[in-house]
Amino acid sequence: MTIYNLGSINADLFYRLPHFPGPGETLAATDHWRGLGGKGTNMSVAAARAAAHVVHIGAVGSDGKWAVERLTEYGVDTTRIATVPDPTGHAIVMLDAAGENSIVLAPGANHAIPADLLSQAMAAATESDTFLFQNETNAQRDGARIASAKGMRVAYAAAPFDSDAVSAVLPLLDLLILNEVEAAQLAKATGQNVETLPVRDIVVTLGAKGARWINTDTGQALDVPALPVTPVDTTGAGDTFTGYLVAGLDRGMPMEQALSLATTAAALMVTRQGTADVIPDLKEVHEMRG
Ligand code: ADP
Ligand code: NA
Repeated sequence: MTIYNLGSINADLFYRLPHFPGPGETLAATDHWRGLGGKGTNMSVAAARAAAHVVHIGAVGSDGKWAVERLTEYGVDTTRIATVPDPTGHAIVMLDAAGENSIVLAPGANHAIPADLLSQAMAAATESDTFLFQNETNAQRDGARIASAKGMRVAYAAAPFDSDAVSAVLPLLDLLILNEVEAAQLAKATGQNVETLPVRDIVVTLGAKGARWINTDTGQALDVPALPVTPVDTTGAGDTFTGYLVAGLDRGMPMEQALSLATTAAALMVTRQGTADVIPDLKEVHEMRG
């Protein structure tokens, strides 16, 4: 009944510019602001907003206190976030006048999570708990092994996609979540259709088409349609989907019901500008479903 999420914590640093800077050019931003980001953070916030008890496992630098405070305000247990010598992970997001963006990502502390943090954080975890992770931190395999040995539900959102990272943890997973592009990349890398992978539950998100659940025990696939909405900003939709899905399952919902909750939350998220700060809460998601 606790979700332990090993995940990235980023400062998203936005700079509005007349145009992208060229080589040797120094350019003043016309506006700048900072947001809380990282796929791990987004998923922790989504699961907490879905009323789950979430322990975030991760790391920040001494410059990351504000991010930890923000996570605490959003209802996430931040007692297992280490402070390390590396700077907090960050993304420099440049926005030009035409609405294009250009992003520089520095993983920083997200790749310096102390090895013993995972065993310490999950010392009291049992088979009724969930371990969730993505591909923006170190220690993914260590975490999955600890969780699997305890009989916890092991859930992996394989993004950003890397076939070696997936292969390293595949035998330990109970639930694999991928988007359509990642599913195609995984099929290509393994030479195997995703339906035949050795993971009990596989969920492929299909953007405006919704999501497909493949139950490899029964060999059956279920398609869940998306809610029709007018998209404003699809950033964070996948992370919101995953946080809500895992929160539903953690609460004992059947997969069909958890998927319906996740697609509703994700649809609401695409109508909003922004990421972690605007992830809908459970009341808003219930109101959306009517
Ligand atoms: P990612 O953002 O990780 O690439 P998707 O684009 O597949 O993932 O989106 C994740 C989920 O968000 C989808 O399964 C769907 O439920 C929801 N979603 C995404 N785009 C839309 C949309 N245009 N309309 C309604 N729901 C959407
Ligand atoms: Na959004």
